Amino acid sequence: MSADPTDHELRVSKIRNGTVIDHITGGQALNVLAILGIDGSEGFGVSIGMNVTSDRLGQKDILKVEGRELSQSEVDVLSLIAPEATINIVREYDVVEKNRVERPSEVVGVLSCPNRNCISNDSEPVATRFEVLEDGVRCDYCSEIIRDRIAEHIDV
Ligand code: CTP
Repeated sequence: MSADPTDHELRVSKIRNGTVIDHITGGQALNVLAILGIDGSEGFGVSIGMNVTSDRLGQKDILKVEGRELSQSEVDVLSLIAPEATINIVREYDVVEKNRVERPSEVVGVLSCPNRNCISNDSEPVATRFEVLEDGVRCDYCSEIIRDRIAEHIDV
């Protein structure tokens, strides 16, 4: 077998329409899919690259999701676990929009509070509200702090 130097790079196909989420913190791609509520049963194309080499990040994950764009609340939560991520909107094979995620000051209506006694877990129709801290998020109603595994508290 000949060693063609161009074979050393694995190229994932370009997508026609959809979203490429690039520069995801290494190892977080599956959590990003959880945030988007994607488990593969939807039937659209999803490519996942995990812990691939990146000049900027050392290692990064990348997700290509066909036929799907992201809502602002999804981007807000995503920014908590992948603060360096770039969201590329692709239409007819061209990147028509590229945005870095921004860390929001608060996330409303996307995370559920782990404190069972929190009013946001009552039958009251209140939207959950978390202030974004340096190292986690704090519930506005009961001050409970979530530091780890934020993706497990997503309620979208
Ligand atoms: N991409 C894709 N399908 C397309 C167009 C782009 O999958 N039809 C992917 C590219 O493979 C790349 C990402 O979307 O991973 C961003 O594309 P582009 O802006 O062309 O690449 P770069 O300039 O390298 O991006 P950046 O500067 O953000 O690193």
